[in-house]
Amino acid sequence: MGHLSALPPPAASGHRAYRPFLAQTKIAPSPGGGAGAAPDGLLLWRAAVAIAARRSNWAASAGTIVNPIDVPLLSFSEVAERLEAFQASGARKQNYMAMYSSIFGGITTDPSAMVIPIDDHMVHRGHGVFDTAAIMDGHIYELQQHLDRFLKSAQMAKIQLPFDRSRIQSVLIQTVCASKCTQGSLRYWLSVGPGDFQLSSLGCTNPALYAIVIDSPSLPVPSGCKVVTSSIPMKSPQFAVMKNVNYLPNALTKVEGEENGGFTGIWLDDEGFVAEGSNMNVGFVTRNKELILPRFDNILSGCTAKRVLDLAGQLVDDGRLSGITTRNVSVQEGKAADEMMLIGSGILVKPVVQWDEQMVGSGKEGPIAQALFNLILEDMRSGPPSVRIAVPY
Ligand SMILES: Cc1ncc(COP(=O)(O)O)c(C=O)c1O
Repeated sequence: MGHLSALPPPAASGHRAYRPFLAQTKIAPSPGGGAGAAPDGLLLWRAAVAIAARRSNWAASAGTIVNPIDVPLLSFSEVAERLEAFQASGARKQNYMAMYSSIFGGITTDPSAMVIPIDDHMVHRGHGVFDTAAIMDGHIYELQQHLDRFLKSAQMAKIQLPFDRSRIQSVLIQTVCASKCTQGSLRYWLSVGPGDFQLSSLGCTNPALYAIVIDSPSLPVPSGCKVVTSSIPMKSPQFAVMKNVNYLPNALTKVEGEENGGFTGIWLDDEGFVAEGSNMNVGFVTRNKELILPRFDNILSGCTAKRVLDLAGQLVDDGRLSGITTRNVSVQEGKAADEMMLIGSGILVKPVVQWDEQMVGSGKEGPIAQALFNLILEDMRSGPPSVRIAVPY
């Protein structure tokens, strides 16, 4: 079942209040519908939701009791059908290939079934941690390194594991296997789990593991970007080093950067030193060709940044870099650098050509950022077994 208008008749539900308003609503076909228009399913969905919202607004503004049949009471199978219809509407822009949930204890490849319980404390209290690993050419990149950070984050967040590390790893690999995805990303969460709506996690007796595989055939492009110094307060070190789901400061930093014509925002720490970006680390190449990255003490220890530090040794060997250091970087030093770059698993290495109103270096993508991008990409494609796990599809 893939269409709103094909929802079941009320008799099948056995629920008194149920009325399939979506099925009964006559929606005019969208004019045009050419390139760039939303898919028909999505238009139908939006129109039906808008009509339902208007009905309840009219009733509310007229001071009347809202007609209870505006909001249908749904059986489990009707909810499932509507989730399928939502999926078919095209409202989601990405390809979700497989999801694992320890709550249902298995993997589903049906995106409409990829849900988590609302009373999971990760949803309403932010009591969860997460991580992401890239999938490239049928291999999972740096899974061990991401798992190290994931489990450390869980420990810091006082989240019990639903099972041990090797089982978690096996579940993640099996989820990628079931997805048949050969290029994309694997995202996973550990949560204190569902149980109630309290703050304490004492009532959560089933810590949960969730994972999802997202297909993305296109690779990041190392094009130059602008960054903006963030006005959003940075997380305190205790929370910045732990990859927990409280990413509102990160999301607002990204939005602020975009609102100011940039790719993202950059945080400075209390002493004015460069910290990190919204979801990436930052690196610089000084005038004397030294690669410098801020130390990881008070920021997230990026798996990509650490791998870049290893791989950059090759550029020291061939003379393109004079050295590699992690240390404090002042704004003044950063803005005077020959090159600046963002580093993270979503973007790999992205050159920064403008920071606030200041051009960085020549104002063009620098050769070291490009070389580091190529090195990481090459490592993802043919690096050693310590960074690549083959998926047994
Ligand atoms: C705040 C923050 N810093 C840095 C990074 C880069 O980490 P990684 O290279 O492991 O993706 C991320 C990535 O998620 C992040 O969220």
